[in-house]
Amino acid sequence: MVLSESVRAEIKKWMDLYPAGRQRSAILPALYVIQREFGYCQVDAQNELAEMLELEPAEVGAVVDFYHMFHTEPKGEYHVEVCTNVPCMLRGAGKCMHEFEEKLGIHHGETTADDKYSLDHMECLGSCGTAPMVSVTERKTGQIRYFEELDAPEAVQKVLDLIAAGKAFKTLERWTPSGDPKLDGKAAGPYRIGGMEPRYLTARVLRRTATRSTPILPMAAMRRQSAC
Ligand code: FES
Repeated sequence: MVLSESVRAEIKKWMDLYPAGRQRSAILPALYVIQREFGYCQVDAQNELAEMLELEPAEVGAVVDFYHMFHTEPKGEYHVEVCTNVPCMLRGAGKCMHEFEEKLGIHHGETTADDKYSLDHMECLGSCGTAPMVSVTERKTGQIRYFEELDAPEAVQKVLDLIAAGKAFKTLERWTPSGDPKLDGKAAGPYRIGGMEPRYLTARVLRRTATRSTPILPMAAMRRQSAC
């Protein structure tokens, strides 16, 4: 048995939140508990969870494989996930990933020999307005922090310096290089939700469209033009 009594009790608490007969709905929080405990969703733990939830092991395995946030192998002390989805890609996510690969001496999908860093791709992390960005998870605490506006090699180096100095998780608020000139892990504040607020995004779109040579017409005007 790999699931300890305390882990089972925690999973049971999640199961009790659902109506009778729907305990299988607790699968996502239960897998999160397992991942926090072991650092990944190991197969023996998945099988024991399947028994608790009265599911087939393959059903639990299918959920683990479907969600990018669940891992089937151990990750390093710091798990760096570079968002390479389209908005981040357009703002230099490829270069950002390359910088991490160079500086850590590994490729994405790998862990450093000292087990300190793992590097992976990630899909949109909801911080497109401050792209390119990475999410870093600290294994011993399970804490996650966003590091944003990493569009220069120096910015990537600063993130790694902060982690090495043990200052990266003093707060979990968003971090940018310009918001932390003294490099002590300070948040970029005042806090906002990763640059996704409509006003912030709209401001960027308007800046962009203002430089276009062809004006963007409202739909009604376009319909009128094509009818002529
Ligand atoms: S595309 Fe990277 S945060 Fe959305």
